[in-house]
Amino acid sequence: MSRRPRALITGASSGLGSGYARTLAAEGYDLVLVARREARLEELAEQLRATQHILAEVAVADLSTRGGIDAVVEIIAAQPIDVLINNAGYGLRGTLLGTSAAELNDQDRVLTAAVRELSLAAARGMHARGRGGIVNVSSLAAVTTMGQYAASKASTLVFTEALAGELRNGPVTVTAVLPGFIRTEFHSRLGMERPGPGLIWLDVDQVVRESLRDARAGKVVSVPGWGYRLAALVAPVVPRPLMRWGSRGFSFARTRGQ
Ligand SMILES: NC(=O)c1ccc[n+]([C@@H]2O[C@H](COP(=O)([O-])OP(=O)(O)OC[C@H]3O[C@@H](n4cnc5c(N)ncnc54)[C@H](OP(=O)(O)O)[C@@H]3O)[C@@H](O)[C@H]2O)c1
Repeated sequence: MSRRPRALITGASSGLGSGYARTLAAEGYDLVLVARREARLEELAEQLRATQHILAEVAVADLSTRGGIDAVVEIIAAQPIDVLINNAGYGLRGTLLGTSAAELNDQDRVLTAAVRELSLAAARGMHARGRGGIVNVSSLAAVTTMGQYAASKASTLVFTEALAGELRNGPVTVTAVLPGFIRTEFHSRLGMERPGPGLIWLDVDQVVRESLRDARAGKVVSVPGWGYRLAALVAPVVPRPLMRWGSRGFSFARTRGQ
């Protein structure tokens, strides 16, 4: 039985999630890597076992399904998890009116229900053991009106703040991460070019480093990158009609050329 701390990371098969996995493995954490693409997870796990000499377990689960969420909740209940990173997520192309209820529900389950249920399962165990940290990857989109994606990310932000409030006098930390644009597979999987100039794009390593630093400092909300921190400070005083107008340009609810 390993004496190393253990972290469970959802969406570990690419982008930010694999960045968290590499960093935590280098810090000596054993890992449980969750996503749907098994080959990608196995490859990462094998690499981290070989280079970092940790235990890395793969859990294939579709978090848009009841069965997928239940399977990961069971893993959390069965073994102590010291750090939970709820990172899995994706955007959708198409307008709200033009997207099926099933697609919207699937996305919302990954972005909110999975985050909520995994957070609560982990928080109960952490609270009982007297230690632990939960990191929920939301998005700066949470302050915008960019379709169901923004609505779900806003829900995760508020849920995380509420849970952090309940746990405020204890040793367990809960942190919502609100990144701006990050260089990952997120936009290519949407079939989108990366919008805007290069300097608005954050590297995975920076987001991982700054969000883990903030989580360990007990911050409830982490906004990586000074430019995005400034944007997050200004956002609450931006008149809502202006926010709605500005959101139209970047909306994931728009198809190319619209
Ligand atoms: N990139 C950005 O600009 C940006 C900005 C703000 C916030 N975020 C957020 O950051 C998080 C990570 O995204 P990323 O940028 O790293 O994108 P990414 O490279 O596309 O990674 C997304 C991860 O989520 C997993 N995932 C998607 N649907 C899933 C499902 N149904 N069940 C289980 N896992 C699922 C994917 O794995 P499988 O496909 O193998 O299942 C993949 O590992 C997301 O929550 C995203 O909303 C991204």
